[in-house]
Amino acid sequence: MSQDDGSIAVGVARSGSRRSRCLAARRPVRSPTATEPLDCGCLSPAEQQALADLLPLLICGEETAISVFERLAVALQQQLAPPLLADLQRVAQDEIRHAAYLDRLRAHLPVPTDTMAAQRAAHFLASLRCAAPARQLVRLAALDALVCCVLSAMLRPNARLACARDITLLLRRIQLDEATHVRITRACFIALGVMPTQVAVERAEMQQRFAALLAASADAFAGLGVDLAVVTRHWKTTIRHGQIGGASA
Ligand SMILES: [Fe+2]
Ligand SMILES: [Fe+2]
Repeated sequence: MSQDDGSIAVGVARSGSRRSRCLAARRPVRSPTATEPLDCGCLSPAEQQALADLLPLLICGEETAISVFERLAVALQQQLAPPLLADLQRVAQDEIRHAAYLDRLRAHLPVPTDTMAAQRAAHFLASLRCAAPARQLVRLAALDALVCCVLSAMLRPNARLACARDITLLLRRIQLDEATHVRITRACFIALGVMPTQVAVERAEMQQRFAALLAASADAFAGLGVDLAVVTRHWKTTIRHGQIGGASA
């Protein structure tokens, strides 16, 4: 979530002496504005196309998250303490802002060539919906943690997007918000009494299914210098050790 100066920061988690690549160092990140044009000029046409082909996955996720979090905030009014409910409502507001960021980015990029990406993402996200709020929260926490890992890989200093400061600022902001969402959703499902064994089962299933979804866009990731095999290997360690959003449930 934002700090008073409009910047955001997250804590640094460590695995032994190695800092997680899925987490940014504790440093302020300025909030992108809604209207400033984005400079994509340092990206080659092929790199812009690769990013355009990945955007439908991200946009679909944000749009789905808006309605899911709004629904959860209503469904859990009697079960969660007011501060947790307020956090859930703020998550929904974050997702609205994220969708606006990505819409803005989309306006600066070519039309996606992968016309099925949005459909694949929509199908995947629809399959995650469930009637039980606690279970839904577990799935959302798992998914947001994985999204953090993917964004982290896209934002690595040696990845292609590194030269595009406006884009990295925007994606970094989303990444840090998602790490906060993991912490909030985890706090909510713990308050609802979810057992760690259930979390582990859902998390493992989510990793498998999300990896399959991303694999269909492997070429676009490769076009941005992101090796999906490395990402999925790394997230197993990172998420198992609870390095996104706080201690593991
Ligand atoms: Fe989001
Ligand atoms: Fe989120």
